[in-house]
Formats: sequence, structure tokens, C-alpha cells
Amino acid sequence: MVSGAKHFGTAPLQDVELPRPGTVLWLLGPTSAGKTTLATRVVADLRKEGIPAILFDGDEVRDFFGADFGFGADNRLRVVSILVHLANKAADAGFHVVVAALTAGQDAREHVRAHVRNLTIGYVACSTQTCAQRDPKGLYGKAMRGEIDTLIGYNSTYQPPDRPDLVLDTESHSLDELAARIAASYGSGRRAAPQPD
Ligand SMILES: Nc1ncnc2c1ncn2[C@@H]1O[C@H](COP(=O)(O)OP(=O)(O)O)[C@@H](O)[C@H]1O
Ligand SMILES: [Mg+2]
Repeated sequence: MVSGAKHFGTAPLQDVELPRPGTVLWLLGPTSAGKTTLATRVVADLRKEGIPAILFDGDEVRDFFGADFGFGADNRLRVVSILVHLANKAADAGFHVVVAALTAGQDAREHVRAHVRNLTIGYVACSTQTCAQRDPKGLYGKAMRGEIDTLIGYNSTYQPPDRPDLVLDTESHSLDELAARIAASYGSGRRAAPQPD
């Protein structure tokens, strides 16, 4: 079960006027596709313009909770539900949020679509072959040597999402090109939600 949308301790804040809510750009794709790289760049670009922006990364949630989370379907969904909660809170506070997370399971994707407000889903696309060549975390190497068997994209297929709002192909486009494309999608003044393709 995914923990729901309880708002712990927020009751006294209900009467306080919020800033204009921010947006959530959810970047999903296989390991080494470029999610963290692209998300970091987008947040940095927004901050350089004085726009409040924050990155939540799936690996960060895993690092923080450490051994509590494994790589089974339930744990993957729990990581996503934590990211959803954090993203909504930050967006409610006026931040433009970028989430970088594998988000491989259909249940996780449906949870994101159902619960994240002001959402744009960006599919960070890259072939398994190129991801395995990049392999900055050495995970494809471990999977090839049989040291892990949980790498989605190698040990099992990474299914592309059905209807992403943006397709961000990191094999055929540079980081600069993709960052510019995302910046343009935020609209003039970067205050509106990114627009779908
Ligand atoms: N166009 C691109 N966009 C993003 N990353 C790219 C691109 N081209 C090459 N890369 C490289 O691919 C790797 C992606 O790693 P990372 O961002 O950690 O992926 P992920 O977070 O999806 O696992 C990095 O080494 C990055 O430099
Ligand atoms: Mg990453």
C-alpha cells in the first residue's frame, strides 16, 4: 500500500495564503539515460533566473533511507510515493520541482499521474546499449557480471511510458538542446507549467 495524502501538521497553514503554486516536471527513464544530469541542469538554469526550483532524485530518497528500501515492486512504489509527496509540498510552496526517478512500474506511473498537481511527464529516452556504455554508476557492469539481477533495462525490460508530455532523447540531443527545450516549455517568464509537445 502507498501511504496516502494525509497532511501531517499542516492544519494551521490552511488559512495562510500560499504563493502561486509551482510546477512538477517528472523525468523518468532507464538508468544512465540522463535524468539526474538533465534535472540538475534545469534546476540550475531556473535558479540562475531567480526562480525558486528544487530537485528531488530517486537515488537521494534511497540514500537517505538506506537499507530500508530494496528493489522489489513494493519498495519501488514506496520511493515514488515519497517523491510524489515531497514534490507536491514543494510545488504548493511555490517551487518549480524537478523529479528524477526511474518510475518503471505501471502502478508507480499511475500513482504519479493521479496524485501530482501541475504535472509534466518527461521521458528521458536512451537505448540500453548507450546507457550500458555510459554507466556512470557501474550498474550495467554489475548486471553483466551477474553481481546484481534487479537492473530494469538490463535484467528486465524498461517499458517506455504510454503518453509522456515530452520526449527527451539524450542520444540524439545534447544536454544544452534538451535544457533549452525544457526552458521553452515552461512558457514566457517560466511561470506557467511546461506545455506538452
Ligand atoms: N544529452 C544528454 N543528456 C543527459 N545526459 C547525457 C547526455 N549525453 C550524455 N549524457 C551522460 O549520460 C550520463 C547519464 O547519467 P545520469 O544523469 O546519472 O543518468 P540517470 O540519472 O538517468 O541514471 C551522464 O554521464 C551524462 O554525462
Ligand atoms: Mg540518476
